[in-house]
Amino acid sequence: MRSRFLKITMFVALATLIGFSACINPRQGYAPTQPIAFSHQLHAGQNQIPCRYCHTSVGEGPHASVPSVNTCMNCHSLVKTNSPEVRKIHAAWKNDEPIEWVKVHDLPDHARFSHQPHITAGVDCVECHGQVNSMEVIEVVKPFNMGWCVNCHRQPEYNAPVDCVTCHY
Ligand code: HEC
Ligand code: HEC
Ligand code: HEC
Ligand code: HEC
Ligand code: HEC
Repeated sequence: MRSRFLKITMFVALATLIGFSACINPRQGYAPTQPIAFSHQLHAGQNQIPCRYCHTSVGEGPHASVPSVNTCMNCHSLVKTNSPEVRKIHAAWKNDEPIEWVKVHDLPDHARFSHQPHITAGVDCVECHGQVNSMEVIEVVKPFNMGWCVNCHRQPEYNAPVDCVTCHY
């Protein structure tokens, strides 16, 4: 009786966890509309602005920063000032408000991820985020599930750890 109860409880707990993580971890193909029509193709592709000019903290800790309004204003105080999309930047700047970018990649809280060891080991942005410099709108192009993480860690050229505590608290 007791073990059956335990089994059911564990099943429910696991199902909830899977369902829950499926809800919060955006899947391949997710490409939300952003408050300003910002194009990586135009900035990182055509104009070859380096990723780190805007994502300054990537490689220094768990998170890659998303640029502030000030970073946009470095150029857009002068560039394309008559564009309606660029005027939205000016409005945010004047009102001292951040631009509310929608988060695209977002792992569930029970998974531990940091950019830093990956950048240090020489893993390129492209491996995980695809050809961002040709994207009009950012899209999740890799599975971002556990199998995907573990498979890469097992590659002999990387030989990264695969024990559970590597990626779970
Ligand atoms: C001119 C500034 C700028 C440059 C250069 C730039 N980005 Fe971005 N990036 C942004 C902004 C703004 C956002 C948030 C809006 C969006 O998602 O499009 C963003 C979002 C992202 C995201 C999604 C973040 C999330 O919420 O999951 C990824 C991944 C990313 N950039 C990777 C790159 C890579 C790789 C490069 C270089 C090839 C690059 N970016 C170059 C400004 C920039
Ligand atoms: C290093 C300079 C630089 C930075 C920083 C920069 N941009 Fe741009 N942006 C450009 C250039 C160059 C163009 C292309 C202008 C053209 O087509 O003549 C452009 C074009 C745009 C356009 C298209 C405007 C239109 O209507 O054609 C938008 C929207 C835009 N940028 C948003 C942003 C946002 C938001 C940020 C901050 C996250 C940002 N840019 C940061 C240089 C920059
Ligand atoms: C090993 C895979 C991997 C590599 C390599 C990688 N990223 Fe990420 N990136 C992720 C994951 C996973 C997330 C989601 C993190 C989260 O939700 O905690 C993410 C999120 C982001 C975000 C959103 C902010 C954040 O940190 O949550 C940006 C911006 C970003 N990456 C930019 C970059 C840039 C630029 C590079 C290259 C310099 C890069 N990434 C390399 C896996 C990677
Ligand atoms: C493209 C290959 C690749 C992918 C995809 C990848 N990783 Fe990694 N990971 C690495 C490499 C390489 C290292 C560095 C190993 C080293 O320093 O010896 C690493 C290191 C780590 C570390 C630090 C391990 C330690 O303690 O030294 C964590 C945590 C981690 N990865 C989590 C993740 C998670 C979570 C995902 C999926 C969201 C992921 N990784 C996806 C290649 C990858
Ligand atoms: C290289 C990183 C990594 C390793 C190693 C790892 N996990 Fe995960 N795990 C993840 C990520 C990332 C997720 C979230 C996946 C998602 O949202 O789809 C996850 C999700 C889970 C889930 C939730 C169910 C699901 O699929 O979403 C469970 C349970 C789990 N892991 C157990 C384990 C156990 C047990 C081990 C050791 C045998 C382990 N993990 C090793 C990265 C890892």
